Amino acid sequence: MPQNSLIDAALAARAMAHAPYSRFTVGAALRTTDGTIHAGCNVENAAYPEGTCAEAGAIAAMALAGGRRIAELVVASGGNTPCTPCGGCRQKLREFGGPEMVIRIVDAAGQTLLRTNLAELLPHSFGPDNLAR
Ligand code: THU
Repeated sequence: MPQNSLIDAALAARAMAHAPYSRFTVGAALRTTDGTIHAGCNVENAAYPEGTCAEAGAIAAMALAGGRRIAELVVASGGNTPCTPCGGCRQKLREFGGPEMVIRIVDAAGQTLLRTNLAELLPHSFGPDNLAR
């Protein structure tokens, strides 16, 4: 089932996180509209603001592979509080998908904590269409 493979990809990505400062490891996996999966993990830095989120890594991997449209995203982290994408990542996601983008937040075991979509996380968003002249 594609959904399970997306969760598995997010969990595997989380295992590769570089988070020595926050110790909060995150994995993200996205599926493009053509069915390809790309994953990323958070990569922190001794210069703290230079760290990058798992979602940003997954988006970069997708772009490198030629993907441009995200259908679904899974974010995996620890604890029981859903690791919803940060504000910056919500905007990064908006570049490659519309309000219908499914966003699933899972725990360390892959159990769903929250299932939402981009419309709920980023209402009245500014996207590529807003630049139409
Ligand atoms: N982080 C992510 O990778 N994704 C999120 O959705 C939220 C936060 C990372 C950034 C930082 O490395 C750590 O989690 C703590 O904020």
